[in-house]
Amino acid sequence: MKLADNKATMSFSNGSASVDLPVYSGSIGPDVIDIRKLYAQTGMFTYDPGFLSTAACQSAITYIDGDKGELLYRGYPIEQLATNCDFMETCHLLLYGNLPDAAGKAAFTKNVTQHTMVNEQMQFFLRGFRRDAHPMAIMTGLVGALSAFYHDSTDINNAEHREIAAIRLIAKMPTLVAMAYKYSIGQPFMYPKNELSYAGNFLHMMFATPCEPYVVNPVIERALDRIFVLHADHEQNASTSTVRLCGSSGTNPFAAIAAGVACLWGPAHGGANEACLTMLEEIQAMGGVSKVGEFMNQVKDKNSGVKLMGFGHRVYKNYDPRAKLMQETCNEVLEALGLENDPLFKLAKALEKIALEDDYFVSRKLYPNVDFYSGIVQRAIGIPVKLFTGIFALARTVGWIAQLNEMIGDPEYKIGRPRQLFTGAERRNVVEIGKR
Ligand code: CMC
Repeated sequence: MKLADNKATMSFSNGSASVDLPVYSGSIGPDVIDIRKLYAQTGMFTYDPGFLSTAACQSAITYIDGDKGELLYRGYPIEQLATNCDFMETCHLLLYGNLPDAAGKAAFTKNVTQHTMVNEQMQFFLRGFRRDAHPMAIMTGLVGALSAFYHDSTDINNAEHREIAAIRLIAKMPTLVAMAYKYSIGQPFMYPKNELSYAGNFLHMMFATPCEPYVVNPVIERALDRIFVLHADHEQNASTSTVRLCGSSGTNPFAAIAAGVACLWGPAHGGANEACLTMLEEIQAMGGVSKVGEFMNQVKDKNSGVKLMGFGHRVYKNYDPRAKLMQETCNEVLEALGLENDPLFKLAKALEKIALEDDYFVSRKLYPNVDFYSGIVQRAIGIPVKLFTGIFALARTVGWIAQLNEMIGDPEYKIGRPRQLFTGAERRNVVEIGKR
């Protein structure tokens, strides 16, 4: 970051001396006012719940222009990456800052595939869960448990440890998600097959059984790979900020990523894809497209507590570029599987059409986000609804790691420690229990 030409001056109506604050510019996007010395200079904190106007770090990984609906990974538009690159190239880009050449890609892919197995003991840990446990509960546990299995990569301050932890996490997430699924349906775990692509291997671990050969459908493989690319990183969202905050204490990378998994689970974040499909299924059960108007009235009624899941975004005030690409993939997959008349897809399109024309959504700049169509694609592929957020976690892992590593390498990095505006009781004395 570089010092901008102008500076900010903060003045106070009570006559306190005004303070000058430096302003910094990044390469693109809004400038930031540096308030780090504000408390020392004024005795005051800033107040910004939900981080609506606060940049918590500098980052060179992902850039979003919410008004334009633009998403760049290391400068490359998501549309170009989704069309020309696969997930392994995207991982390399996010982790190391450049797209690999053919030899670099082959070496990186080989490195990842050599780490796809998990310690055999992990399955006994997994077996401690109830069979009907939510996959995200299992994933939070399993990812955290990796720190108990891979002791040689837990020192976050050691660059070699961070590198090997990064590769292990990217390689093992598909294995863990597939194991969580197989466990829930009582089928044997399938070991990874390293001759397959990253997405192809995941499909194999999910849907193959030891009884029959399993052939990966290339359309589904490509669709899944695109889902991974579209979810790989998204700037300082809630789970990424969680990973950074958690890692800022110096905890090990597996523990920090487990914190990200836990945060992602929420319906306002990664859990939205599951919530979106559940919503579509509920409207379908009520009568489908004919009930869209009634449902929309509930969404617009502030007292109903009903939201149109898969719509709206803190940063995008335009069409989420990932949603457009996901809609394309949705068309491709449904056509390849002969599901063009899928009622939930028709319902989603009807909801989208109404929402894009309705003043409630237009005036609030609410557009479909990536989760609006990703659930339909995943359902068509055969992934159970409860596993959707697990797939998101699998794909986002590379982004979390890239952001964590960037933070550790930043000379300005400090343990994260937000301040507060205290509104509770002032100092008071404890009264003996009999006299309260
Ligand atoms: N349905 C109905 N109204 C909405 C919706 C929605 N999906 N999203 C926002 N609004 C309204 C909200 O009630 C508020 O109205 P008003 O100004 O009258 O009070 C206005 O739009 C602004 O919304 P906000 O809640 O202040 O915006 P936010 O930035 O705090 O929340 C959000 C962003 C994503 C949490 C929210 O839009 C939402 O809950 N969407 C549904 C869940 C969802 O799809 N999440 C996935 C996000 S993309 C994947 C990811 O990155 O995790």
